Order: sequence, then C-alpha cells, then structure tokens
Amino acid sequence: MSATPATATEVTTERVQQHRRYLMCKPSHFTVSYSINPWMEPSRPTDTDLAVQQWQALYDTYIELGHEIDLIDPLEGLPDMVYTANGGFVIDGVAYGPKFRFRERAAEAPAFIDWFAANGFEVAEPVEVNEGEGDFLLVGDTILAGTGFRSTGDSHCEVGEVFSREVVSLTLTDPRFYHLDTALAVLDPVEGPGGVDKANIAYLPNAFDEHSQAILRERFPDAIRVSDADGSVFGLNSASDGKNVIISPRAKGFEAQLRERGYTPVLVDLSELLLGGGGIKCCTLELRGGTR
Ligand code: ARG
Repeated sequence: MSATPATATEVTTERVQQHRRYLMCKPSHFTVSYSINPWMEPSRPTDTDLAVQQWQALYDTYIELGHEIDLIDPLEGLPDMVYTANGGFVIDGVAYGPKFRFRERAAEAPAFIDWFAANGFEVAEPVEVNEGEGDFLLVGDTILAGTGFRSTGDSHCEVGEVFSREVVSLTLTDPRFYHLDTALAVLDPVEGPGGVDKANIAYLPNAFDEHSQAILRERFPDAIRVSDADGSVFGLNSASDGKNVIISPRAKGFEAQLRERGYTPVLVDLSELLLGGGGIKCCTLELRGGTR
C-alpha cells in the first residue's frame, strides 16, 4: 500500500472531531433577579423567551454536530440553573458535586447531585466551595483549576484527590472573568503522542495574575492568546469537540485565530444569557463516562 505522507504542517492542523455528551438545562425560568457578578443588573429587563430561543439554537447546534444532550429539569426560583457547567465536574462516570459560593445558587447543588445519582453517575460529595466545570477544565490528564472569585484553593486539593489527577491552580484577577471558563477554553483535550498537544488551549492572559500567566506560558507555549476585545465579549466561553468550536459571533479575532489553527468556528449568539454573566460554555457541562 502506498500512501502520500502528510507534511508536518498538515498533521498538526488536521482537527479530529470527538463525540461529546453534555448536560444542559432549558432557561424556562431565566431572569436576573440578583447580582453575583458584574454582568448582572437586576434593574435591566430580561426576555425569557429570547433566552430560551437562543439556548435552543445552541442545543440544536450540538445535535446537528452529532453530540448527545441530556437535560435536567429547570426549577422555578433558580434562574441561574441554565448555567449547567457549574453543576459539577464529571470524569470517568464520577461526578464531583458543586458547592456554590453564593446562597442564591445554593439550592442548585442538590438538584444536580440528585440528577447525577439518578442517571448512573457515582457522586463525590464536596466539602469545599467549588463551582464545577466553571472552574475546573480537563486538558489531557491534567485539571486546570481556577480560583480568586468562586472555587476555593482547598477545592483544588479536593478535586485532585477525587480524580487522582494533577491539578494546576490558576488565579483569576478581573471580576468580569470570575470563572475559569470565562477566561480559558480547552480546544482539544486529547493527549497527542508524547503528551499533551501544546496547542490545545486558548486564554485571555490579562484575566490571570502574573504567576498564573507564567505557568500558562510555560505549559502551553503554543496556546491561542485571545485579545481583551474578544475576551470581553465572552469569546473564550466556548465549547470545542476538537474540531468544531462553538463561539460567540462577536469574538471576531478569536474566530480568525481558530481558523488559522485548523478549527471550524461555529457561531451561536447567547446575548440574552450574557445578561446573567454566562455564555456557551456556562450552559454546557461535559458528561465523561457513565452508564445509561
Ligand atoms: N449568574 C451565574 C453566576 O454568577 C453565571 C454563571 C456562569 N457560569 C460559568 N460557568 N461561567 O454564578
């Protein structure tokens, strides 16, 4: 058999789609009735129907791409439940439960934990304050963990023990980017030969303290660094399947950077949900492993 060998450039830019299973929650009760991040202004009116319509477009996009979506029932009085990324952190069928920083969201924790238990996941009950995949992102075998606003440093130790994995703590410093997933996106979590593919994350350098920026530069020298302009429209709050990257249509520079690296940007506008301080990734919790 003779095959034409691919050039080195072709090999590094060819992106392979991976199957994803996500947990989402329809924003049927979405509104902004309290403020726990700088984006939320309770005096500003929200349009629940528009929020549902935009969320539906995200749901449909995932389905069209061939992904699998599970739904958790939205509960009245919990308008932030649409941001399922905060509902836990799931690897190999084990769900590390959330413990919310603010009392306004506290009642979401048992709802998510019950959902995991009822859907075949082994639940690890948290002791420490943590907001799930909002602050924990898996890259290869490593957990990148955010702190500064929501999840505590102690939760970083806890998540490392639960999953027996290396945890890299990163400190966020800009209140607009209060969860790690607002400032850093994992584009391809699959380990390449010889370790983690070093080009597989994107981040907003200015959202992190000096020390964390140095860690990111060292560990991910080829990462996409996103501009402040793209970061401030929640460009990094995106979901990737290794090939398709669902991003905000406002993040024009990031869109171009993704194309240059061989990814396929898919634009979905969640402007209404941004009034609650959340975007694409916030509405998406990855379910890794688990049985049906
Ligand atoms: N209003 C929610 C909060 O402040 C938004 C959560 C956004 N979620 C995320 N994964 N970044 O908690």
